[in-house]
Amino acid sequence: MATPINRIAINTGGGDAPGLNAVIRATVLSASLRGWECVGIRDGFNGILQPEHYPQGGVRPLTRDDVRGIAHLGGTILGTTNKGNPFSFPVMQADGSVKEVDRSDEILHYFQREGIDALVSVGGDGSLTIANDLHRKGLRVVGVPKTIDNDLDKTFTTFGFDTAVSFATECLDRLHSTAQSHQRVMVVEVMGRYAGWIALHSGIAGGAHAILLPEIPFDLTKVVTKIREREDKGRTYSLVVVAEGALPKGGHHALLASNEFGHAERLGGMGEQVAHELARLTGKDARTVVLGHLLRGGSPTSFDRIAALRFGTATVRALDEGLSGVMVALAFPNVNYVNLEEVAGRMKAVPPDSDTLQTGRDIGVCFGD
Ligand code: F6P
Repeated sequence: MATPINRIAINTGGGDAPGLNAVIRATVLSASLRGWECVGIRDGFNGILQPEHYPQGGVRPLTRDDVRGIAHLGGTILGTTNKGNPFSFPVMQADGSVKEVDRSDEILHYFQREGIDALVSVGGDGSLTIANDLHRKGLRVVGVPKTIDNDLDKTFTTFGFDTAVSFATECLDRLHSTAQSHQRVMVVEVMGRYAGWIALHSGIAGGAHAILLPEIPFDLTKVVTKIREREDKGRTYSLVVVAEGALPKGGHHALLASNEFGHAERLGGMGEQVAHELARLTGKDARTVVLGHLLRGGSPTSFDRIAALRFGTATVRALDEGLSGVMVALAFPNVNYVNLEEVAGRMKAVPPDSDTLQTGRDIGVCFGD
């Protein structure tokens, strides 16, 4: 029998996604209905590990009043970071160099000292791997699957994905008319890391003529053929959606930069490469639009808002039932719990037998293969 809960902490880690605030609100409201106290850790775990950076406190109380009217807001009232892994925390050395140090014990000591019984960790694969590692060290943890990329395994979808797809679709809707007016090839690069979910879903919803995914290395001559076939039918413009992680057959990902430790590389630039090559091969005018971080902003759609609210309350129910080391997941029609162990470090790519992919093929979308 797990010890009863009196106080929980919540944090948000990794890239932000619409719906984070809705998770925070739902967690705090349902916890407070059980008489539990809530605190929020700022910027992942930085609020605990770097208290000197937070004159107002790196860990703040979260009352019902603090979470009033935030469910529809983008971003996170707690802040977030993708640089604060407590198991490999960047620490400045006396000689000015930076070394990664395991500071995870400090998190456990903090929870013990402050009488915090459990952590609700809202994040993508990086944050949920950290959550799993903390659980293995003895912390009570429940995770919530967040990412616009939808690349987390064992949940039908992550919150944030629907908002990103809706926005990208609206952008594609707008680009049809200008592409048509100028008889251009419009290349739209979308985020998604090494998974093509955003590109696939927005491309199909927004009527793209070609969609290039990381899961299907492309041959641009196939896209050129598609553009020419359209020209022959008098359709003198084309829309091509390119996932930031797409790559040519036998080629490489387009990378912007690596961090100082050589990992957490940033993808980007494939859209421009594709536009340049398509202009050269077709003789047509081509332009690139990179949607980038716009996909992470704005209010969550009602789907994401409801998913986030359901996830937030489900974390509290999980803790109340004595669970730990689990992630709440969407398994239609309900939420369920899956072991963090099954999620940590695993990426959910678009499967080759995806019926959404097949839908694209059946309506004539070119996938560059
Ligand atoms: O994982 C979410 C995501 O938005 C990816 O789609 C993208 O590659 C990455 O984060 C960008 O992160 P950053 O905030 O470091 O630019």
